[in-house]
Amino acid sequence: MFSYIICFFSVIISANCALAPFITPCHTQNDTCTLAAAQAALPYVAAGLPELGVKPLDPLHIPVIKSDQGGLTLTFTDTVITGLKNCKIDGIRHDITKPKQSVVIRCSINQAGNYKLNGRLIVLPVEGEGKYNIDIRDIVIKVTSEMSMVPGEDGKLHWHVNKWKHAYQVKTGAHFQFDNLFNGNKVLAEPVEMFMNTNWSDVMQEVAPPVVYSIVAAVMDTLEALYKIVPADELALS
Ligand SMILES: *[C@@H]1O[C@H](CO)[C@@H](O)[C@H](O)[C@H]1NC(C)=O
Ligand SMILES: *[C@@H]1O[C@H](CO)[C@@H](O)[C@H](O)[C@H]1NC(C)=O
Repeated sequence: MFSYIICFFSVIISANCALAPFITPCHTQNDTCTLAAAQAALPYVAAGLPELGVKPLDPLHIPVIKSDQGGLTLTFTDTVITGLKNCKIDGIRHDITKPKQSVVIRCSINQAGNYKLNGRLIVLPVEGEGKYNIDIRDIVIKVTSEMSMVPGEDGKLHWHVNKWKHAYQVKTGAHFQFDNLFNGNKVLAEPVEMFMNTNWSDVMQEVAPPVVYSIVAAVMDTLEALYKIVPADELALS
């Protein structure tokens, strides 16, 4: 009658999971309940679960993000991303037979750190190195993952994410600040800043893919860490 809950935040939705007490029990097939439970649990997981050895997602530290595409070489170092704990889960769907799960989340996040840019940003030549700050309002990310059950060290079965893929779109806007573009030459820097913040959508398509990938990878690592600790039978309603 009841079976496993394999949604994105399944660990957090356990009925009888002593390891994660901030759980609301749900029937597996009840997407409404699952979504509400995942939403309620998200801030707890994002804050980190030190007693389970799960690192925080908010703030999220990413040492290096690199990209080299479309004539633009880009390196972000010591990036701190904040805001993930306030993400809204727009939808959760799971297919128990495959098993496969997909989740849509909507987030407004800030990322800051050091940057190094060189090349061509769409039509404009750009170079610089210094501090950066990007504010992203309403990025909608869909993650689809394929799951399996594997035996854990405790001898019980655990969920495991075999592979995942993602897609995203920024809905409302993005604001970019790159200090020290063109080594501080404002005459050169100002048109680039204007271009970035007017054409934020195009710029996001150039600049954001490696960042979004890093964020989703960190979230999936967190979930995998939780799955490893909490046996699948503690994620079932019974
Ligand atoms: C689904 O769960 C909600 C509580 O979150 C409950 O109100 C509703 O009756 C449930 N639906 C079904 C079909 O069990
Ligand atoms: C935005 O992009 C378009 C097309 O690339 C360009 O013509 C326009 O000048 C840009 N806006 C600013 C403020 O740079």
